[in-house]
Amino acid sequence: MNAPIDCTSTSAWAELEAHKSTFTPDLRGWFAADAGRVERFSLPLADLHVDLSKNLVTDEILASLVKLAQETGVADRYAAMLAGEHINTTEDRAVLHTALRRPAGMEPALVVDGQDVDADVQEVLASMSAFAERVRSGEWKGITGKTVETVVNIGIGGSDLGPVMVYETLEPYATAGISARFISNIDPTDMAQKVKGLDPETTLFIVASKTFTTLETLTNARLARDWLWTALAEAGVAVGTDEEKAAAVAHHFVAVSTALDKVEAFGIDPANAFGFWNWVGGRYSVDSAIGLPLSIALGPDAFGDLLEGFHAVDRHVAETPLEKNVPVLMGLLNIWYVNFLGAQSHAVLPYAQQLHRFPAYLQQLTMESNGKSVRWDGTPVSTETGEIFWGEPGTNGQHAFYQLIHQGTKLIPADFIAVVNPAYPLTDGGQDVHALFLANYLAQTKALAFGKTAEEVEAEGTTGALVAARTFAGNKPTTSIFAPSLTPQVLGQLIALYEHITFTQGVIWGINSFDQWGVELGKKLALEIAPAIEGDDAALASQDASTQALIAYYRANRK
Ligand code: F6P
Repeated sequence: MNAPIDCTSTSAWAELEAHKSTFTPDLRGWFAADAGRVERFSLPLADLHVDLSKNLVTDEILASLVKLAQETGVADRYAAMLAGEHINTTEDRAVLHTALRRPAGMEPALVVDGQDVDADVQEVLASMSAFAERVRSGEWKGITGKTVETVVNIGIGGSDLGPVMVYETLEPYATAGISARFISNIDPTDMAQKVKGLDPETTLFIVASKTFTTLETLTNARLARDWLWTALAEAGVAVGTDEEKAAAVAHHFVAVSTALDKVEAFGIDPANAFGFWNWVGGRYSVDSAIGLPLSIALGPDAFGDLLEGFHAVDRHVAETPLEKNVPVLMGLLNIWYVNFLGAQSHAVLPYAQQLHRFPAYLQQLTMESNGKSVRWDGTPVSTETGEIFWGEPGTNGQHAFYQLIHQGTKLIPADFIAVVNPAYPLTDGGQDVHALFLANYLAQTKALAFGKTAEEVEAEGTTGALVAARTFAGNKPTTSIFAPSLTPQVLGQLIALYEHITFTQGVIWGINSFDQWGVELGKKLALEIAPAIEGDDAALASQDASTQALIAYYRANRK
């Protein structure tokens, strides 16, 4: 594997340093002087319309950023990823989530490490679809012969965030009378609340875990199995013997994992397990068998359309020159903000209530990928890396944290996402409510970009100290993403857009965006601490003073 190119040693980096030293952002001036700016900075990405014009860049800065992508080999590394090279160096794995959405029959076929990847992907997709149809049609029945009304996905991280976000977004497509719930947290409250009101006879659990070793998921799977047996018994179903218990599990539990042996050891029939592969990272897995709850609740067709959306963006990245390549450009803009203008975070603000879990989904995608301080060859990074991604849907955020974006001291680049046609069009006394919603979407980026000068404030009659308080500096960078409707295709495009933004930034920083060693230490320590909480004094004695004191508090207050 090639050593990463140190981005700070490139000539593009030097150019960007020079731009920065003479740079005064002036969106008002740039817009006034340049009638072509919006057209030049607005680009199509499959069904998405992406307006980059309100970012703090000139054509010269953008050209240097594109040169940075060239000099750090972004396109070559993307090609290496698509071809199945082991770009996940620390785990010696290919990174092939893009293979999950290659259409059937695509030429040439993708064979990696001697494995016909296309054939494997299509085989699992076919079995997922067939199973989803059996559940949706009522052919699949619970232990008492009733059809499934609720699927409950048990997973965490990439085995939860993708499915729950997509389900919430595409919920208008859940028309087969099957709803989905998602249990992730090992806080027992999550389990207790999510099974409330469920009929065990019509509930199907999906245990989703790439490794099938994750503490939270296996604990919750056992809790769910106990709940099933208890609730069935309360309903008068015979589940006293081992055979009866096993039959209940066989009718009400399926699994998704790369470790099918462990699935079987848990007691789930391998015939009811759906596989994927170690070349699919957890946070990149919603388009693998991890999407099973989606295929069931939304339908295999909607799931197929989602994959089509992903693939359209994969193709755009592969086939579009860098200067028109939307995910690459958005990644480069992030580099400009993080490494040259000092941004520490990035807001994603969907003006679509259905996307309310999208920022949470992106937090894992971006921060587990690029929250690194060593490069893919183990050497330290030479710059700041992964920014903090966060956000909430508009307009709710407007009444909470937008104050800081408008008038605070921090630079927070923000992506505003909206659709033209709402899933639920409503009017209020003749007023199209979605149009009013979109007026807010447009007003916010306008206010952030162009602000309000002291003269404008004074012209409205304001005087004294209030003038400063009511002045808006402007030059707050935003990207506007607009789509016709929140279809499965559009959602697939949005997710893939951010996957490839993340990839672009990772390559420039020289990071392996596909491992996550930073989550391991806490997991190990939790296993060591658990006995100390439960009363093991030897385990307690080996803890640091703060942990000991906190455990003492726990023991003293436990009822
Ligand atoms: O702890 C982090 C992580 O490994 C994520 O990367 C992953 O998505 C999540 O845990 C769940 O892992 P699994 O699917 O193996 O249960």
